[in-house]
Amino acid sequence: MKSAPQIHLSNVQAVYSGAEGKLWELLMGEQIHLGGLQSSLELARCAGIAEGSRGVDFCCCAGAGLKFLVQFQKVAHMTGVDATPAMIQLGRQRVAAEGLADKITFVEANVSDCGLPPGQFDFVWGEDAWCYVEDKRAMITEAARIVKAGGKIAFTDWMLGPTDMTDTEAARYLTFMKFPNVLSQAEYRSHLEASGCSAQLAQDTGRFASQMPLYLDMLEKQLTYDALKIIGFDTALAAELVGEMKFIQSLAQAGKVIQGLIVAEKC
Ligand SMILES: C[S@@+](CC[C@H](N)C(=O)[O-])C[C@H]1O[C@@H](n2cnc3c(N)ncnc32)[C@H](O)[C@@H]1O
Repeated sequence: MKSAPQIHLSNVQAVYSGAEGKLWELLMGEQIHLGGLQSSLELARCAGIAEGSRGVDFCCCAGAGLKFLVQFQKVAHMTGVDATPAMIQLGRQRVAAEGLADKITFVEANVSDCGLPPGQFDFVWGEDAWCYVEDKRAMITEAARIVKAGGKIAFTDWMLGPTDMTDTEAARYLTFMKFPNVLSQAEYRSHLEASGCSAQLAQDTGRFASQMPLYLDMLEKQLTYDALKIIGFDTALAAELVGEMKFIQSLAQAGKVIQGLIVAEKC
């Protein structure tokens, strides 16, 4: 694990209530995760998400994963849990506008203590968001608590790769991204096992290093005006953002950061 103890949920909420969150959506689209729809389809296939099932998206943001699961996987009902009120509000608006409100419910809560009933859900889902969660052990315990026996916990996340990151690199990466900590696949597996789940699949999607240049290209070659508008035409800040994203790209190329994909089953 690599940690940035100065980063807390309030810092993450500030990101997703303001300009930084808008910038991520500009670069990535409504699905704020590496690989967009392709990544969601891969995760759903690996997890065997079934038509008519009921699931929970931990850190659902404005509901892109919820809508994907209902529309593409024909899931009967999704509950989205997120701790940023602005994202919940935006998600409710989008879901209503797209006519999906009867199949999607939002809950404003910390995923480490979400308050949903025990053993009711077929799966818990997460896409590139659990890196923002401070207490990952509590979050995994919570996911295992609400899923049925035989149910799945399926997620992608920004994880530590096979090559060690130095503490200096970790401090720079986590501080820029507002991640309180990041885990390796092995650390996630151990939390899952401690919560009575067995990991069926843990892999590197291989997507990270190829996606970052796409976002950098958009920032530098196509969406420069739009990005500058979001950050109040602060060109110095824009240059800093590009520099930090290039730094993250160098970490990915060195195998220090990956998009990990894990599917576990509740025993
Ligand atoms: C990158 S976005 C999620 C993207 C989304 N999964 C998708 O694929 O479009 C991260 C989200 O995590 C939420 N979040 C971070 N920490 C949280 C916590 N402890 N509890 C609930 N939500 C949290 C933030 O509010 C934000 O909306």
